[in-house]
Amino acid sequence: MRAGGIHPLRAQTHKISQEIILKEQAMRIGMLTGGGDCPGLNAVIRAVVRKGTFHYEDEFVGFVEGWRGLLEDKTMELSLATVGGILPRGGTILRTSRTNPAKRPDGLQHCAENLQKHGCDALIAIGGDDTLSVAQKLFDMGVKVVGVPKTIDNDLSGTDFTFGFDTAVNVATGAIDRVHTTAEAHNRVIVVEVMGRDSGWIATYSGIAGGADVILIPEIPFDIDEVAELIRQRHSRGRYFSIVVAAEGATFAGGNVEDGTAGRDEFGHVRLGGIGSVVASEIEKRTGFESRSVVLGHIQRGGSPSAFDRVLATRYGLGAIDMAHRGEFGHMAALRGNKIVSVPLAEAIASNRKVDKEILDASIGILDKLDFKVSKTS
Ligand code: F6P
Repeated sequence: MRAGGIHPLRAQTHKISQEIILKEQAMRIGMLTGGGDCPGLNAVIRAVVRKGTFHYEDEFVGFVEGWRGLLEDKTMELSLATVGGILPRGGTILRTSRTNPAKRPDGLQHCAENLQKHGCDALIAIGGDDTLSVAQKLFDMGVKVVGVPKTIDNDLSGTDFTFGFDTAVNVATGAIDRVHTTAEAHNRVIVVEVMGRDSGWIATYSGIAGGADVILIPEIPFDIDEVAELIRQRHSRGRYFSIVVAAEGATFAGGNVEDGTAGRDEFGHVRLGGIGSVVASEIEKRTGFESRSVVLGHIQRGGSPSAFDRVLATRYGLGAIDMAHRGEFGHMAALRGNKIVSVPLAEAIASNRKVDKEILDASIGILDKLDFKVSKTS
C-alpha cells in the first residue's frame, strides 16, 4: 500500500470490475433513424436489437420518424419479433424525417425528457451529419448518446465509409451501363445526374465503375467550354457517343445560376437537382451533338442493400451496442481500415468529407485528358 492512496493494482482491478459491471448490466436503449433514408438502416437496427437482447438482455424503445418521434413522443416496439426478416429491406422500419429539434422551442429539452420518461439509459442515433449534430447537442446536455454513420453521400468525417454508399454506387453504375447502350445506339451525349449533396463520392465511384467519359463533382468547379472540347476531342478520335456523370452539387467555374425557388430543409440545406439538364443543353449548344440528361434521384436511395452494406451496417450496429455498454457516449461507430472503432461525434460532424486525393487521382488517370494544343488550333 502506498502512503495516502490505494495500491495501483487494486485501483486497476476496481476499474476493470466497474467496466465488467457496466458491460453486463442490462440497459434500456432508445433508437432512431434520422435524415434521408438509405439501404442498410434496417440491418443496423436488427444488429443492435439482436446483440443487445442475446448478449446483454437489453430492452429497446424505437422512436419513429427521426428526431420528430423523440420530440413528440412517438414510439414503436423494438424486439426480436419486430426486427425479424428486415435485413434485406430498404428504408427503415423506424421511418425517418429531417426534423431538427434544435429549431423548436425547448426541442432538445423535450427530447431529453422523453428519453427519461421511457426509462432509457442511452440513445442510439443512426444518421448523417445533421442527425449526429443533434446527437452531439444532446450529449452536451448530459444525454448518453452513441451515433452510427449513415448516408449514401459518404460525406461524414471520421469514418472511411458510411453504409448505404455502396448500394447507391451500384444503382448508379447499373444506370450508367444502361444509358451507355442507348447513347451508343443514337450517337448521343447523355448526362447522368447523381446525388451526393456537396461531395462527389457517388459521382466519382459510379463514374469510374461505369466508364464515364467526363465526371463533374462539387470539389472541382468545371469549365463548360473545356467539357465540350473534351467531348469534341473524343468524337474526333472516332467515338460517336459520350457519357457524362454529374454530381447534383457540381458547379460551373463561374458559379451556378440560382433562381431562388429551391426550398431548404430544417438544417438549412438547399434542395439540389437540375444541373444535369443544364450541362446537357450547354454541351449540345457548343458541340452540335444531340444530348440528353437523366436524373437518378431517389432511386439511388431505394431498394435492398448490397451485401457490402448489409455487412457494414451489421458491424456498425454491433459496434454501437458494445459502445453503449462500454460507456463510450458522445462517440460514433466508425470504419477505419477494416476495423470498427469509436470516434468522437465532434470529429464526425466537424466538416464535410470531400473526395480524397487517392480517388481523384484514379478518376483523372482513367479519363481523357484535354489536349490543349488541339483545342487551341481547332
Ligand atoms: O443526403 C442524402 C441525399 O439523398 C442527398 O444526396 C440529396 O441531396 C438529399 O438527400 C435529398 O434529400 P430529400 O430526400 O429530402 O429530397
